[in-house]
Amino acid sequence: MHGAPQSPELRVLLTRERIQARVAQMAADISRDYADQSVVLVGVLKGAAIFLSDLARQIQLDATFDFISVSSYGSGKQSSGEVRLNKDVDQSMANKNIILVEDILDTGLTLQFLRRLFLNRAPRSVKIAALLDKKSRRTEPVEADYVGFVIPDEFVVGYGLDYNERYRNLPDICILPPEMQ
Ligand code: IMP
Repeated sequence: MHGAPQSPELRVLLTRERIQARVAQMAADISRDYADQSVVLVGVLKGAAIFLSDLARQIQLDATFDFISVSSYGSGKQSSGEVRLNKDVDQSMANKNIILVEDILDTGLTLQFLRRLFLNRAPRSVKIAALLDKKSRRTEPVEADYVGFVIPDEFVVGYGLDYNERYRNLPDICILPPEMQ
């Protein structure tokens, strides 16, 4: 097996092969939708870094990328509903086609906050690409324009997603069982 050693308690939900195939399809959809236009991929640190790097290399458009960092107040998996901007993008967003790139859309608080923030910067357009969508957990009225996989309400790690900063480097997306949380 290549990549990081995977603990036997972690059950694979999405293999690296399925992820790569789906990311390629998402990139093809994006390339078609923005044909002959430029895009700015804005990745949400740190979880989306791996997804963005794979997606960006398959997008056949004039593209730049940038990163943003946010945190939601609260500890562990429970968020209080407040989102704070820790690091902003480096370039102007005016008149740009912005694609917010996120690892997972859960309650929707983070992307609702980010979408509003970027819509206030006079962009040409703002869309969302989320690799995973935990639809059943949504509390905010926000949906992604490009979704990789709709997944059940399980805590997942790998391919950028962490639990207390660990497991981001796993090549597959795995379910972290409750006894390990
Ligand atoms: P939201 O603001 O509730 O939509 O949550 C989005 C953020 O919660 C993501 O960017 C992740 O950092 C984190 N998150 C939600 N579910 C999971 C999960 O199953 N594994 C790892 N992180 C998660």
